[in-house]
Amino acid sequence: KPIFILNGPNLNLLGKRQPEIYGHDTLEDVERNCAALAGELGFEMRLFQSNFEGGIVELIHQAREEACAIIINPGAYTHTSVAILDALNTFDGPVMECHISNVHKRESFRHHSYVSLRADGVMAGFGVQGYELCVRRVCTLLGGK
Ligand code: DQA
Repeated sequence: KPIFILNGPNLNLLGKRQPEIYGHDTLEDVERNCAALAGELGFEMRLFQSNFEGGIVELIHQAREEACAIIINPGAYTHTSVAILDALNTFDGPVMECHISNVHKRESFRHHSYVSLRADGVMAGFGVQGYELCVRRVCTLLGGK
């Protein structure tokens, strides 16, 4: 089963959106780098993005059937969405929460995460490299190379 990397609102604009905060790499770059790394570690990876809260909930439901692990950057829904937390609580495998920016260095409304109540690990402030570090972590947890 593949690792699912789920991305929330505005992350389709990664690379163009506030590059001083989120950098110049695009979501396609993230997808390519993570697929290559997952492959080296003996796993498959699929990356998705939705600007809709319910879209992310449905991707988590899909992951219940199809994924071995979830890496999720819920964007702003991190700080608001009980629905995404509830969906993640129905998933049995490893869950990593990934933020490109260091949310703790930013506005106080970004300091609280509903998703952290379920996440097995939280990445923040490592730029887009954080996604690759999450891939390494889930592969370790799943007993890969
Ligand atoms: C983010 C941080 C969130 O606070 C913000 O709303 C995002 C991106 C990050 O990757 O740093 O959209 O999750």
